Formats: sequence, structure tokens, C-alpha cells
Amino acid sequence: MRKLNIAMIGYGFMGRAHSNAWRQVRSFFDVPYEPVLKVICGRNESEVKKVANRFGWEEYSTRWEDVVERPDIDVVDVCSPGYTHAPIVLRAAVAKKILFCEKPLANTLTEAQQMLEAAQKNNCVHMICHNYRRAPAVSLARNLIEQGGVGDIYHYRATYLQEWLRNPQFPTRWRLDRAKAGSGALGDLFSHSTDLARFLVGEISEVTALLNTFVHKRPVLDSTEIADVDVDDAALSIVRFHNGAIGTIEATRYATGRKNFNRFEINGSRGSLSFNLERMNELEFYSDEGPNSGFKTIQATDKAHPYLSGWWPPGHIIGYEHTFTHTVLELLQALEEERLPTPNFEDGVKNQRVLDAVERSSVARTWETV
Ligand SMILES: NC(=O)c1ccc[n+]([C@@H]2O[C@H](COP(=O)([O-])OP(=O)(O)OC[C@H]3O[C@@H](n4cnc5c(N)ncnc54)[C@H](O)[C@@H]3O)[C@@H](O)[C@H]2O)c1
Repeated sequence: MRKLNIAMIGYGFMGRAHSNAWRQVRSFFDVPYEPVLKVICGRNESEVKKVANRFGWEEYSTRWEDVVERPDIDVVDVCSPGYTHAPIVLRAAVAKKILFCEKPLANTLTEAQQMLEAAQKNNCVHMICHNYRRAPAVSLARNLIEQGGVGDIYHYRATYLQEWLRNPQFPTRWRLDRAKAGSGALGDLFSHSTDLARFLVGEISEVTALLNTFVHKRPVLDSTEIADVDVDDAALSIVRFHNGAIGTIEATRYATGRKNFNRFEINGSRGSLSFNLERMNELEFYSDEGPNSGFKTIQATDKAHPYLSGWWPPGHIIGYEHTFTHTVLELLQALEEERLPTPNFEDGVKNQRVLDAVERSSVARTWETV
């Protein structure tokens, strides 16, 4: 059993999700590595210490610069806001670390390309965390598509809907600051639907899009200050795929009542598929084959379904956190098999090309090539 020492940057939402994944993976899957929670970083010392203790990190640090080049670190896991991704990854790449980075890969296409180039130049293993690919029902959808279950794909219809910004008095945070987040709903949510589009349907060739900001000023938490909002609140796009399919992708933080409604529907010449993260153990499947007309709901919890061999008996459902465990499992399996994990920085750059085209289209009010 080879030890793999992890350094994680960021202890917030994703820091906790990834910490849990690194801890769980070896307990449920046969992997030839023992991930060691070596050091976790964040700027607030008392908070990072608390998270370190809670998840069992051996050390904590308030400076990522002090840890990413350490000779005893094998993996640098980037769970901090977008503006930090490029500087952290570029330093870690030169130190030849295994690079695992949250999405979107960077705040700009240029930065994303620099990160990919640095990873390739230094022969680093690299992976981006588009974890929704690894919900068992989504992996099953991909398998059904590959087996011809839906035939030629005509339509991809994705909506990623959240509601948390609909109150104009909700205070600002880094996600509403372009300098820190790069974009709003676009990089946060639309990028996930774009990754699923690329995973399930194929490459996107052109887009026409609309970005919109509903609330331009918001209060600053625990202050009398008011801050400008300079990112999009909602992103809508019509997309065309290289293989002839067409699609729509809509992402918003203003969908009143919707919590994390990450849904897609795919219509093909022989069948259709539909998935909604809020019912993530289920995949709806319509097939022309067989006597019954109408969609059936597959509960993707059988041992034969992707990733379920590691978990509970059929029907004993799994949840959001498992998608991260399956993502780090892919990373560990790829290391063992000496191949690049997926999705990786090449996917991150391709994704970012779509986001870039969406931004260009929204400004120019035209169709833009990806
Ligand atoms: N895969 C997913 O589904 C998913 C979900 C949410 C967020 N994300 C991505 O994960 C990343 C982090 O988002 P989050 O929701 O966890 O954010 P968060 O605000 O919950 O946590 C951010 C963390 O980064 C740390 N941080 C901020 N600036 C830093 C700096 N300069 N140096 C070191 N640490 C710094 C903060 O201390 C905090 O611990 C973003 O890139 C985001 O897009 C991905």
C-alpha cells in the first residue's frame, strides 16, 4: 500500500467535501494507495485548525505558498476560489505534484491554458473536479448512450437552477466579485452542465448566449458598505454540437424554490434519458425497444451499476458526497493504471472555451464559435 500525501488548499464547502472523499475512498473501494491527509490550508487560522481537527488532517497552514512545493507532498488539491487556482497550480506543477483542481479550472481561458501547459511541461498528472459525471445514474446514462440505447442524439436540454441570490438584501461574497470568481452562474453552475454536455453528447461547436445581472449592488456582511456585483446572475445559451445535436443550457441563482436543480434531458433517435440531481439515484430512460411505451425510472443502486459495488445493498441510496469519493477513486485508479484521469485539465480548457464563447456572445449578441 503506497502512501499518497495530500495538501489541500481551502477548507470551506469543497474543502470539506474533498476531505471526506479522501477519507472514505479506501474504506469502500480497493485502491493501491493510502491517501494521507497531510496538510490543509486556509487564511483563517482558528477556522482551518477546527476543520483540520474535525477531519483528521495532520497539520494545518495559513499559507499555501509554504506547502505546495514541500517534498513530502504528492497531491495538491485546490479547493479555493477561482482567482487562486492558477497561481497555486503553476507553483505546484513546477514542483511536479499531482494536480487536482476544483472547477472551473481558472477565471479566464488564458489562465486555464497556462495551467494545462504547465501540467504537461512538467509531466504532472492532472484532474479537474467535475464530480457530477460520477453520480452513478449519470455514469449509467453515459454507458447507455455508448451502447446505442438512445441512438443518434438530437437534443441536450440542461437547467442548473438555484435560488440563493433571489433576495436583493443577501450579502455579497467572493462568488459575486469578478476579480475573485471570474464569473457568476456561468462558471459556478453553467460549467457543470457544459461538462455533462461534453461527457454525454460531445464537443460544443458554437453558442449564442445571454448573461444577465438582476441585482447590481449588495450589502457587505457585518458592515454598512454596499458592494458592486460585477458577475452574471443567470446564463442562458443555445448550443450546437459537432455531431449535429443541438441544446439549451440555463443556469441561474434566481430560480425561486429551486435548491440545486441540476437536470438534463437527452432525446435521441431511439430513446431518451433524463436526470435530476435532486433525485440523484434515479435515471429516467425511454426506449423504443420492448413492449411498453413511456419512460421508466431506473433506480441506479444495483451492484451492477457504476460505483455501487463499493456501497450498500440495492435501494440503500447514496448521496452528493459520494460523487466526490468516486472522483478521487478515478484519480487513484488512473495513477495505478498510469493514465490521465478524466476529466482533466484538457477538459477544463475545453469547458473554458465554451464559457469564453458564451461571454463573447452575450456582449456581441451573436453566434460565437467555440
Ligand atoms: N465541484 C463542485 O460541485 C463545486 C461546488 C462548489 C464549489 N466548487 C468550486 O470549489 C472552489 C471553492 O469553492 P467553495 O464553495 O468551497 O468556497 P468556500 O468559500 O466555501 O471556501 C473557500 C476556501 O478557500 C480559502 N481561500 C480563499 N482565498 C484563499 C487564498 N488566497 N489562499 C488560500 N485559501 C484561500 C478560504 O479560506 C476557504 O477555506 C471554487 O473554485 C468553486 O467554483 C465546486
